[in-house]
Amino acid sequence: MLINTPPSSDQNSNITSKILVTGGAGYIGSHTTLALLNAGFNVIVLDNLTNSSAESLSRVQRISGKTLEFIQGDVRDRKLLDHLFTTHSIGAVLHFAGLKAVGESVVKPLDYFSNNVVGSVNLCEAMAHAQVFNLVFSSSATVYGTPKEMPISESFPTAEPTNPYGHTKLIIEDFLQSLAKSDPRWSIALLRYFNPVGAHQSGLIGEAPNGTPNNLMPYMSQVAIGKLKFLSVFGTDYPTHDGTGVRDYIHVLDLADGHLSALKAISNRTGVNIWNLGTGIGYSVLELIRAFELASGQAVTYQIAERRPGDIAECWADPTKAADELGWKANRGLTEMMTDTWRWQQANPEGYGG
Ligand code: NAD
Ligand code: WQD
Repeated sequence: MLINTPPSSDQNSNITSKILVTGGAGYIGSHTTLALLNAGFNVIVLDNLTNSSAESLSRVQRISGKTLEFIQGDVRDRKLLDHLFTTHSIGAVLHFAGLKAVGESVVKPLDYFSNNVVGSVNLCEAMAHAQVFNLVFSSSATVYGTPKEMPISESFPTAEPTNPYGHTKLIIEDFLQSLAKSDPRWSIALLRYFNPVGAHQSGLIGEAPNGTPNNLMPYMSQVAIGKLKFLSVFGTDYPTHDGTGVRDYIHVLDLADGHLSALKAISNRTGVNIWNLGTGIGYSVLELIRAFELASGQAVTYQIAERRPGDIAECWADPTKAADELGWKANRGLTEMMTDTWRWQQANPEGYGG
């Protein structure tokens, strides 16, 4: 669909002219692409649309009043990547592309190792070939496993993941560490996200999961809109203040800003840098339900259910390192996360297909 952008005249061009965003049509990628455009970057999105729609990118352009280039394709397609790097002057890659459904990864591990691990290796090979060494990778707090204490700082050890999805993130982190050791030109950010929620305040872009959602926030908002009957609260016997699971929910717009800060930081660094992207505050499932009810004015019907296998009791970030080294912190609170999710859900009951 989209049109080539004019060269940027902005101050961020030290990372050079164009940013390749893999998986940029997806939930976090689309919000980050918007932030990049707003900051004056030229953006090329590569996405195979397995879990997204190009409509998200049309809306990103609508919101920003700027254009981007979209290539529909797969990160495992080396020929395509080589062509992309040859025909564009790319200064850095934000790598979101991959599959992310924990439960599905247990059933289809090959898909996860192929898209996530093989895709990332292929991307790095093409980057090295093109002499592009700046990479921001979407990792996850899942790599910490079940930490002994809270909050989780980057110095905590990583742990054996409980599912193939988590494995792929850890394997990619490990090979990126080896890569950076092998060649000092690499400058890599491993961003460990906590629980992204929320949507852009326009209500035009947001999370649009295929089929029945697995995660709490989209599930709850589909209950509120009447698409799903009730929410199951997975476990009320955790050692937390109200017995339900506690997580660090972070607004996707704060997360997007974190990528811009990381991008800027790696232009002055080499090697691998790890940053947690979280708020530092944990909320329980019941607190989230109440906050969503308040923000939406809708009752969320729920039932208490068994614990979900593989879930941990609590998980929240120590975001100090990102604050100190990136000058970034999450600014948006729980009410804004809930209000923005509800606005998006109401305006787009069928996601981008509606
Ligand atoms: P998403 O599914 O909305 O976005 C991923 C995008 O990658 C989709 O648009 C999909 O079509 C595309 N894609 C998948 N495989 C591809 C391939 N082989 N080639 C090209 N494109 C491909 O997911 P998201 O929530 O935006 O997550 C983005 C990244 O952040 C993922 O790597 C995910 O693992 C990671 N992450 C997400 C969360 C979360 O809770 N959403 C938490 C931690 C980490
Ligand atoms: C949050 C809380 C559930 C659904 C997952 C991945 C993780 C990362 C983020 C990618 C937990 C409870 C949930 C429901 C519920 N993704 N819950 N009823 O499990 O913290 O993290 O997404 O990297 O790797 O595992 O997020 O939103 O699924 O769950 O009670 O229908 O909500 O038990 O306490 P989670 P979630």
